[in-house]
Amino acid sequence: MKNIILAPSMLSADFNNLQKDIDMINNSEADWFHLDIMDGVFVPNISFGFPVVNHIKKLAKKPLDVHLMIIQPERYIQEWQKAGADILTVHYEACTHLHRTVQEIKNAGMKAGVSLNPHTSVSLLKDILPEIDMVLIMSVNPGFGGQSFIKQSLLKIAELREMADVSNPTLIIQVDGGVDITNHKEIIHAGANALVAGSAVFGSENPEETIKILKSV
Ligand code: DX5
Ligand code: ZN
Repeated sequence: MKNIILAPSMLSADFNNLQKDIDMINNSEADWFHLDIMDGVFVPNISFGFPVVNHIKKLAKKPLDVHLMIIQPERYIQEWQKAGADILTVHYEACTHLHRTVQEIKNAGMKAGVSLNPHTSVSLLKDILPEIDMVLIMSVNPGFGGQSFIKQSLLKIAELREMADVSNPTLIIQVDGGVDITNHKEIIHAGANALVAGSAVFGSENPEETIKILKSV
């Protein structure tokens, strides 16, 4: 059976009681903590930064999957390694020298991810694909939780999986935005093997059960 990496997005967690939600994830079948970092420039929202991540790191018993929605992410690679990031994802649209940035992330001992906004074609990744561990396909316009899944993303996932079969068969294809228990199966069947879910997990009556369902194929 296909192993699906499920990463709940802490953006939708209860910030008045983070420990409770962190414990829930620790005790669930979830695989990673997805942390959305927004700078108010690359995206029209500001989320949280190092002080919050440092606290999450102290309690989290699973890898930290950090999604940087910031301009010039190369400025902070060492700091994210120190903060405990295991996977560091930068946006294609935010990196002038993406190849160098990817090498720096890997040299710092983290897995390197590259994210695409909904309008960015997966074909643009052809030359960098062999170098990276993960592609994060944004299936909503980044900046906010709780938006609807953009259907066109399914075609992008399938196209990327075909490209990866040729040049990087172990590539993780992660999908982020509007993922829920009504669409997770078609996303996986299109070729994704990692899902991010914020409101679908934290807005549900039984988050642990929802995590279990989202991981099932
Ligand atoms: C959006 C973030 C997502 C977001 C997902 O910019 O990258 O990780 O938290 O939230 P949902 O699952 O509610 O769409
Ligand atoms: Zn995200």
